[in-house]
This record gives sequence, C-alpha cells and structure tokens, in this order.
Amino acid sequence: MRRPIIAGNWKMYKTTGETSNFFQQLIPLVAQTMHCDIVIAPPFTALAEAVRSSAGSNIAISGQNLYWEKEGAFTGEISAPMLADAGCRYCIIGHSERRQFFGETNQTVRQKINAVLGSGLTAIVCLGEVLSERESNQTTSVIQTQFQEGFAGLTPQDFSRIVVAYAPVWAIGTGRTATPEIAAEVHQLIRQSAQELFGVDSAEHLRILYGGSVKPENIRGLMAKDDIDGALVGGASLKPDQFASIVNYLSA
Ligand code: PGA
Repeated sequence: MRRPIIAGNWKMYKTTGETSNFFQQLIPLVAQTMHCDIVIAPPFTALAEAVRSSAGSNIAISGQNLYWEKEGAFTGEISAPMLADAGCRYCIIGHSERRQFFGETNQTVRQKINAVLGSGLTAIVCLGEVLSERESNQTTSVIQTQFQEGFAGLTPQDFSRIVVAYAPVWAIGTGRTATPEIAAEVHQLIRQSAQELFGVDSAEHLRILYGGSVKPENIRGLMAKDDIDGALVGGASLKPDQFASIVNYLSA
C-alpha cells in the first residue's frame, strides 16, 4: 500500500553533458516501471539539464540541499522556490555528508523542512547514526533525537509530505550495507517515532527509504522487509544500468 521510491543521489558528480547521456540511457530502461516512484538528485549545475532530459518520463528530479530563506544576500545558497522553479519535485535534507562536513544540525534540518514544504516540494529527510554511536548502543537514542528535533512542530498534514531516509553513516560509500534485519529494525523504530508524534495513520503512510551501499545485488533483500519502502542510492545511481536494475528489483 505504500508506493516505493528509488532515489538516486549523485552527490558532487556529473557535468551537464554526462547528465544528458545518463538520462538518454536510463529512460528506456525504466520506461515500463510502474511499481515505484523514481527520483534523481543531480548537483545544482545539472538540474536544468536533468529536468530537460527527463521531461515526459517517469523520473522526478530532486535538489540535494537548499537554504531556508526564500531569497536574499546569502552568497552561494539556493532556495526552495528556486528549486521548484527549476523543475524539482523533491529535495534531500540533512544528508549525513551535510551534517558531517557542512555543520547541519537537527535545527537547520527543521528550518529546511519548513522551507521545502512551503514551496510544495516533497522533503527526503535523512537520519542515521555514525559507527561509534552504533558500537556504543546509542543508535536508538540518536535516531529518536534526530526524528523528534527534526520534525518538531510539524502537523500530520505537513508530515504527509515527508519521506524519511535511514542512511547509517557507517554504511555510506563503504560497501558495508546494513543487513536487511539491521535496517528493518531502525525503520521500525522510525515508524514508531512517527506514530508517537503524528499518529497511527501518518506512521502507516510514511515511506522510509534505506541508504548506504545499495546495489543491484542487495536491493531485493532490503525491499523484502515490510518497513523498507525504497532506497536512497549514492554510488550505484551514477551508472544508468546499475540504477535501472535497482529500480527494477522486482524483475531481477
Ligand atoms: P552510497 O551512498 O550508496 O554511495 O553508499 C548512500 C547515501 O549517501 O545515502
């Protein structure tokens, strides 16, 4: 009943030329795909090309980040209305690389969520613990705090336009995927937190993606878990054939 989402996060990769090649190859590979929503998040400089190249296809485009003000003297920043104007339908917020390298906190995540929702986009909000937190049994409290502080003050209606991505930092770009069991355990915890804050209905409708070394080889096992509603794919989203086999996991 929850429609899966497979989202590719390109991070700081691909020129406009590479973007146009990617879509030329990807579009025919996923043209028949009906079972999930497909999203690609290119870097800002390739957004226009991605929107142009994917026009008329079943692929939606996402920003990777934004600033929460609508406009102003904020050199180097991009706002939610600008992303909407560029043709984005989603924006990723609070990716661990933003938290780790660019000072993002649960408070800035919340401000960005408000900005994204105000512009009619869907927010893909990332949560996840680092290795030392997992090893010291702090995963539950870290995820609960990220959830509660990040989503504080939202109404259930706002929350219905949020997708959560559980992306454990120790599994990102490391080749070390969380097992479906480990991922599902945290996904359940996130759904539980959603229920506490927004009610049973919101929790049941919430789509929770898993992110961290998702590959064509491990997607089926992950998607077989009830609480895993899709994937946020980094490295493997850069190759059209790999990304397409992740999207088409049912026919693998
Ligand atoms: P990865 O990245 O697939 O390259 O591990 C995932 C992510 O950043 O969420």
